[in-house]
Amino acid sequence: MAASLVSVPVAFLLLVLAGSRAALASETVEQICAEATSGGAHSDLAPFCVASLQAAPGSDGADARGLAAIATNLTLANYTAAVATIKALERRGGWTAAQRGALATCRTRYIEALNVVHSAVHALAVGRLEDYAADMAVVGKAATDCEDAFGAANAGGGSSPLRKVDEDAVNLTTVATLIVRSLKK
Ligand SMILES: *[C@@H]1O[C@H](CO)[C@@H](O)[C@H](O)[C@H]1NC(C)=O
Ligand SMILES: *[C@@H]1O[C@H](CO)[C@@H](O)[C@H](O)[C@H]1NC(C)=O
Ligand SMILES: *[C@@H]1O[C@H](CO)[C@@H](O)[C@H](O)[C@H]1NC(C)=O
Repeated sequence: MAASLVSVPVAFLLLVLAGSRAALASETVEQICAEATSGGAHSDLAPFCVASLQAAPGSDGADARGLAAIATNLTLANYTAAVATIKALERRGGWTAAQRGALATCRTRYIEALNVVHSAVHALAVGRLEDYAADMAVVGKAATDCEDAFGAANAGGGSSPLRKVDEDAVNLTTVATLIVRSLKK
């Protein structure tokens, strides 16, 4: 009897603590994204940062260092998926010669970038943040180059079939880079 009188408030207290911890954690992703994207030309990326990181497993309750690793891993997954998307588009066919050329450029650039993301993952893990920033600049450039290749191939109209893929890639790379930069402050 005495035990159950004690355990009810204890269980309630645990529930309250668990609830407030979850609330605090989801605030933290927003705060880390807000800090990382503030004070520069990238404040418009805050909603993308929050949406992409909150959807990632393990982000709840992660600190900035943990979120940096999660964002970098998301970048790796995104570039891997981009290569698969490009190969599927190539198989689908129906492209002009110029568009086939652009797809080939995109595939090459994304595959090159994948190796560099692996290098960035390693640089982050061992704390070489300058190397990380240099790697991620190369990684983001691959997606921009892909979009530019389509800009040239579609001169005269038509949008790139990889526009969302390229934008996600650039946005994720930028978000990961900004969070890592915020670690140095
Ligand atoms: C990338 O971020 C910009 C804001 O910087 C946003 O306007 C755009 O919709 C984002 N792209 C994707 C594919 O979410
Ligand atoms: C790439 O990342 C964005 C943002 O997290 C996500 O919305 C998109 O689904 C990812 N793309 C792929 C193909 O995984
Ligand atoms: C990132 O990916 C690496 C390699 O797959 C893994 O060891 C690590 O736990 C991941 N980190 C996070 C924060 O998800």
